[in-house]
Amino acid sequence: MISEAELRALSFEDAPQMVCEVPGPKVAALMEESRKYEALTRGGGGFPVILEHGKGATVKDADGNLYIDMAAGVAVNAVGRGHPKILEAIRRQSGVIMHTTDITNPKRIQLAKRVSEVMPEGLRGNCHTTLFQAGSDAVETAIKFSRRYTGCSQIIAFQGAYHGVWCGTAALTTGYNYRHGWGPLIPGVQHLPYAYCYRCPFNMTYPACDVQCGKYVDYVLNTPYTAADDVAAVIVEAQQGEGGYVAPPPEFFQLIKAACEKYGCLYVADEVQAGAGRTGKMWAVEHTGVKPDMLTWGKGMGGDLPMAGLTFRADIEAGLAEGSQPSTFAGNALGCEVCLTNIDLIQDPEMDLMGRATRLGEEIRGILTEAMKTVKAIGDVRGRGLMIGCEVVADQKTKQPPEPGVCGEIAMKLLNKGIIITPCGRYGNVFRFMPPLTIPRDYALKATEIMIDVLKEY
Ligand SMILES: Cc1ncc(COP(=O)(O)O)c(C=O)c1O
Repeated sequence: MISEAELRALSFEDAPQMVCEVPGPKVAALMEESRKYEALTRGGGGFPVILEHGKGATVKDADGNLYIDMAAGVAVNAVGRGHPKILEAIRRQSGVIMHTTDITNPKRIQLAKRVSEVMPEGLRGNCHTTLFQAGSDAVETAIKFSRRYTGCSQIIAFQGAYHGVWCGTAALTTGYNYRHGWGPLIPGVQHLPYAYCYRCPFNMTYPACDVQCGKYVDYVLNTPYTAADDVAAVIVEAQQGEGGYVAPPPEFFQLIKAACEKYGCLYVADEVQAGAGRTGKMWAVEHTGVKPDMLTWGKGMGGDLPMAGLTFRADIEAGLAEGSQPSTFAGNALGCEVCLTNIDLIQDPEMDLMGRATRLGEEIRGILTEAMKTVKAIGDVRGRGLMIGCEVVADQKTKQPPEPGVCGEIAMKLLNKGIIITPCGRYGNVFRFMPPLTIPRDYALKATEIMIDVLKEY
């Protein structure tokens, strides 16, 4: 296993270190400049951080404040920022060739082959891959390919899901801000309850509930009068990301898969946020015992450069027409080389980043769970590997979410203590621990300790 000393060398020393209150003068000026020229629709607009320099699991803002990065660019920098092997890959490939349009290139072929090798069971060695720049592109294409393959048009997704914000993907996503006022989004999407056990929509308790939410998928797909008469695919995150780092029991997914098979539609695993080793396995679906028919990936696979893909069972290709899904920037050779290097690092048995994510994740969850006994603002702690959700509540008994604005205030306090950690979830009250898998243990524990200290005030 990679040593703590080696990991520490990948990050800035002695984080966190604050030189001024956030936002400092330079960040404030840049934010003003951004507001003049950039559209306000960008993500994280209200978050007063402008990153200027990143190293491993640490980042510096434009004023020189040094943070521990518990966000990894929203689960993107799996191996940290500016990993020496990634920089070497960029130097190596940028001098050879980068853009080749959708005409393929050797690196792209190599990447599709490597992706096939690391896919979960069901797809491994029996798949094709189409490459993109963003997770949304991959999900849009999953909708199209599943429609073409099955000859059906409807898609089933889940409450709390985030699959992107284009007219197809926004129809699958349930966050109000991402849907409201943009319609019409694509029709024919049904949202079913996700197994959010902490806030069970049926007010039941696992395992006594007998996983009713999973059974409900079978009910919708395989009984009459549920309006699911033309379903091409069910798309599901094995651990919800934006929906609140919710990690359902494996039976939920097994019931969905069985219902899909009975009905004859495809099971699409959206691994854009949970994939690339984050949960301690290469793919979060591998915790569930389900063999997906399609898998969308992105974020952590590309890391410092954008790369995403849709990987699907080889036989699904029979229904597709040659040249029917072109994309100008797809499979950029530089992005492919970086992605290949990322996969090698994540999979490297000597570094054991996934095993480490499991162990470090368990340790962090243990500390947060213990803190829950005295810190009344912590309602729930959940997740797998380094994809941990800490749900903040106003009342542990009633599970009432905090007043609007409270979690933003907590995030600001954390920022001023040098910790970048962002909330997500239905009520914006779940702090997500998603640092690079290369975060030094002492940095991860320091961030956890600071989080607990701040939550004690609530
Ligand atoms: C599960 C999931 N799917 C799809 C997407 C969309 O990816 P992108 O923002 O790269 O388009 C995201 C982004 O957060 C995601 O978390």
